[in-house]
Amino acid sequence: MTSGRAVTFAHANIALAKYWGKRDVANNVPAVPSLSVTLEGMRTSTTLELDESLSSDTFELNGVSAPKEALARAVTLLDRVRREAASSSFARVSSRNDFPTASGLASSASGFAALALAAVNAYGLGWSVERTSDLARRSSASAARSLFGGFVELGNELPSSGVLGAAQVAPVEQLDVHVLVCVTSEGQKAIASTDGMGRTAQESPYYAAWVERAPVMFRELKAALLTKDLERVGDLTEASALAMHASAFAAGVVYVTGATLDAMTRVRELRASGLAAWATMDAGPHVKVLVSRADSATVKAAMERVPGVLRVLEAKPGAGATVIEGGA
Ligand code: DP6
Repeated sequence: MTSGRAVTFAHANIALAKYWGKRDVANNVPAVPSLSVTLEGMRTSTTLELDESLSSDTFELNGVSAPKEALARAVTLLDRVRREAASSSFARVSSRNDFPTASGLASSASGFAALALAAVNAYGLGWSVERTSDLARRSSASAARSLFGGFVELGNELPSSGVLGAAQVAPVEQLDVHVLVCVTSEGQKAIASTDGMGRTAQESPYYAAWVERAPVMFRELKAALLTKDLERVGDLTEASALAMHASAFAAGVVYVTGATLDAMTRVRELRASGLAAWATMDAGPHVKVLVSRADSATVKAAMERVPGVLRVLEAKPGAGATVIEGGA
């Protein structure tokens, strides 16, 4: 039965072991495995309604019509769902982020996770969370991870089933950590991650080294997480981000700014002074700090004083995507 309407929530996630590069561009299969933590504080809520009177999909983001490119990506996901559901109904989609959109704060991850879950339910597909995660991955690979809560992995091989979804590695309680998102700019990111990784793969002399090294860091990080070794998880988190950015940097794909480097330097100083804090950066200028819960208040106060850090958001590990209303 198609309910025709669904309301969903999904949280952002931050990769500790980064995904950067694609093994298969057409199917959006990552070149390397990744491991992330889903964050409670940063949420997208999406309402999707099938509407027989529509002649195309509509997509409102934070109360205004979504940019053309965002609409096109949403339509691609909805077309896949319509094919599977043998439906010709268009959808009215409305999404809201409770954190800044498209500033490198991983809004595409929570956005596509919430959209995939809403579409699967409104079109009555009744898919497993793994299959829904595969659908989200095809739009944005990091979004596959936001279907799950706690600590989550995504592989880099399409199994013969054709379904590559993420999976939970460990629950929220596994590590007593928070993530401090140090916002260094309110603007949109300069190079979208899909383009940044494409350029890195084509032009970076260090891309091959990244693709060889990243799976090793992923495996070590996963093992450290499973034994609750926060020091090791933190060291590998920072190393993964630095290796990813080094490979991108060599292709002229530069996300860091002076403020990013100042914030990262401060994190390293704080760690040298005995605090449990490690820096990571994604396709944007912000610095995310993995910090033990015990040290989070001290580290947050220190990061707020770094010139160039505009504000610091604090998030703890959170739950996976949820259907609030609707469903098959
Ligand atoms: C740096 O998931 O945005 O945040 O699959 O092309 O949409 P596409 O890329 P996307 O890339 C995220 C890259 C990253 C690292 C990560 O989240 O693993």
